[in-house]
Amino acid sequence: MKVLITDPIAREGVDILRQAGLEVEERLGLAPEALLEAVKDADGLVIRSNTKVTAEVVAAADRLKVVGRAGTGLDNVDIEACNKRGIVVMNTPGGNTNSAAEHTVAMMLAMSRHIPQATASMKAGKWEKKRFQGQEVAGKTLGIIGIGRIGSIVAELVQGLRMKVVAFDPHIRPDLAEKLGVELVDLDELCRRADYISVHTPLLPETKGLLNKDLFDRMKDGVMVLNCARGGIVNEADLYAALKSGKVAAAALDVFEKEPTTLENPLLGLDNFICTPHLGASTREAQENVAVAVANQIAAYLTKGEVRNA
Ligand code: MLT
Repeated sequence: MKVLITDPIAREGVDILRQAGLEVEERLGLAPEALLEAVKDADGLVIRSNTKVTAEVVAAADRLKVVGRAGTGLDNVDIEACNKRGIVVMNTPGGNTNSAAEHTVAMMLAMSRHIPQATASMKAGKWEKKRFQGQEVAGKTLGIIGIGRIGSIVAELVQGLRMKVVAFDPHIRPDLAEKLGVELVDLDELCRRADYISVHTPLLPETKGLLNKDLFDRMKDGVMVLNCARGGIVNEADLYAALKSGKVAAAALDVFEKEPTTLENPLLGLDNFICTPHLGASTREAQENVAVAVANQIAAYLTKGEVRNA
């Protein structure tokens, strides 16, 4: 049986597929037409976020039995089209949680201490101590929207920085929140109390544009906002207006409504905005974890019919 890999994954994953006796074809960065051709005789398809598994791709994939996402988000997969054809869709949500949580904390500290701006200033030959006075995070309140796998680790990490955590999540059990040392509140109270707000939900119809003008208006003046989850949860036009007016003092985004994001995005022209190009899971450790997990899962399914999600 053949497994087609269309986005780069760590070598360890490719080796596992081969050792399981599967034929592996790596065709990275395919144009849509070429993907339709390449997927025709694949039994398994391994992707990250770049490949779009549309209904058209599913229809072209005569032999496809399983799609494996090396990573968490499945918003690039037409799950309904896969379900209709009985194609199993798997992801590896455990593999990059730590990296994504660490990236969130790194962005929060970088934003609070103007590290990207100060680096750019020094590289331009300046020494601007006064311009870059920052603020401590210790003693501040972080509001976490969505306290699942990644949000929980963020909560643990920032308590080590002596922050208080309040969280909004209609799905979490109160005893789990208590164990994490997190106070569960409704969205209004979170907005009223948080000095920093970080979102950690998937992109769903109910979370699309969740952080919009209406929500920014309910936040504290001078709040700082982070999104290292999924592009589109923050309404970028509304964020731009809130950053311009100073309602939101600073924002840090790792993910965007449109990726890749270019200089056409006005957010990139703001001094109080910092960003990274969807790097949350871009660590050696996370990429190895997700590649190994997806390869084991696909091999188990194609060779033994076992369905696992790690
Ligand atoms: C994920 O969903 O796993 C992350 O956003 C990382 C990625 O897209 O590669």
